[in-house]
Amino acid sequence: MSLRLEDVWVRVLQGVSLEVSGGVVAILGRNGSGKTTLLRVITGLLKPDRGRVEAPGRVGASWQNPYFSFHRQTVLEELEEVAGDRGYAAEVLESYGIGDLAYRSPFTLSMGQARLLSILLATLWGPELVVVDEPTSGLGPGERSMVSRLLAGLGTTIVFATHDLDFALEVADRVVVLDRGRVVLDLPSLEAFYGDELYRLGFPRPLAVEVGLALGRVVRSVSC
Ligand SMILES: Nc1ncnc2c1ncn2[C@@H]1O[C@H](COP(=O)(O)OP(=O)(O)O)[C@@H](O)[C@H]1O
Ligand SMILES: [Mg+2]
Repeated sequence: MSLRLEDVWVRVLQGVSLEVSGGVVAILGRNGSGKTTLLRVITGLLKPDRGRVEAPGRVGASWQNPYFSFHRQTVLEELEEVAGDRGYAAEVLESYGIGDLAYRSPFTLSMGQARLLSILLATLWGPELVVVDEPTSGLGPGERSMVSRLLAGLGTTIVFATHDLDFALEVADRVVVLDRGRVVLDLPSLEAFYGDELYRLGFPRPLAVEVGLALGRVVRSVSC
């Protein structure tokens, strides 16, 4: 898997260069910094005005409104369509503790359940790269930890965009910070969160980092 953006200019993006060869990458930045635009470039939905994009052939995507991913009568049919096998689809649902949703209409799911399903749909057909926009927006704490477990356990290369720093610390190996369409920081996530460059850019320290600093060790999550 290799993703390479070279000096990409389009809309708000101003000369973005980025290489990803694996792992879980969080794109951080305030509202309007260009995160969604960058994901749209990566998936090929948006062509750069200038610059080059080399992306893998198979890219799965889960967008901010998960309900836009759905078009079938039931959750199981949605999953079967991408997984190619009904039995496997049912097993996947069971493994996330949501087997009871199999025969529900996907349009009646809670935001968290819908997000989980939309990420599974982006993933189960075997893409080389999965992009997820704002995985935690609109989720409660229980739903949030389910989505974090899902993203951390996929084993596929993931690029996700978020303004949720706590979530990025919990899930990402690497963070890339966008500010007004430019990459202003690109570091392994523990270096970013336990160093000071991220905070010099004005981001608040996640609670887990405060706890980690007080205990003198790396803490990535304070949720139970
Ligand atoms: N289709 C579009 N045409 C023109 N400008 C857009 C379009 N979509 C987004 N923008 C602008 O680009 C900027 C970045 O948007 P976006 O990538 O959605 O940021 P983020 O996801 O970081 O909040 C915003 O100022 C937004 O108004
Ligand atoms: Mg966005």
